[in-house]
Amino acid sequence: MENYKPKILVLFYSMYGHMFAMAKAAAEGVIEAGGESVLKQVQELVPEEKWDDGIKAAKKAMSEIPVAFPQEDLKGIDGLIVGVPTRFGNMSAQMRNFWDQTSSDWIAGTLIGKPVSVMSSSATQHGGQETTIISTLWSLMHHGLIAVGLPYSNQEQMGISEISGGSPYGASTITGGMGERMPSENELQMAKSLAKHNTEIAKKLMVK
Ligand SMILES: Cc1cc2nc3c(=O)[nH]c(=O)nc-3n(C[C@H](O)[C@H](O)[C@H](O)COP(=O)(O)O)c2cc1C
Repeated sequence: MENYKPKILVLFYSMYGHMFAMAKAAAEGVIEAGGESVLKQVQELVPEEKWDDGIKAAKKAMSEIPVAFPQEDLKGIDGLIVGVPTRFGNMSAQMRNFWDQTSSDWIAGTLIGKPVSVMSSSATQHGGQETTIISTLWSLMHHGLIAVGLPYSNQEQMGISEISGGSPYGASTITGGMGERMPSENELQMAKSLAKHNTEIAKKLMVK
């Protein structure tokens, strides 16, 4: 199994940088597990003239990250990690826009039998991280992807001494009402562990 180096796409959307931080941690996890990570962001839909200072700063920090093309970037991958902020308890329109352009890969069955993990962020502790992860997985399962969550062997999700995202459904972070809280070490560790787990499963699935 040592020779298998799965290519894992870490595909994210981030408006204020929280999911970007989680996606970078996930990309590190892929590499630590012996995979090749490809970090890409989906296309922004909010017109630039509407960006506030927080969005401008985040977009500047993410400017080097390539934008994924729905008809190209799903081909040839062995696993997928999706990072998407909560919008009213559901995935953001930017991420939905990406997936709504993937019919040709759905018809071709490009993603059938590959592992997928989802990460999310929300302003409040119970603002819909878990519903966003689960409802995103529903859509991804239409592509034949296999849902991979975060097992409880990852003890970071057990702690109650500090505020933290993270659940068996996937890694997540709590941003605060004004986006003032960036992912904690605990949350970043869960993003990394989720990606490692996904990569290790991708490796096993590659064994012929
Ligand atoms: C239109 C909109 C809807 C949102 N809906 C929710 C929500 O349902 N629950 C919540 O806790 N936060 C909600 N938020 C806050 C975002 O989830 C938060 O800004 C995001 O997770 C930050 O991640 P990012 O920096 O990667 O964009 C919403 C934000 C916007 C702009």
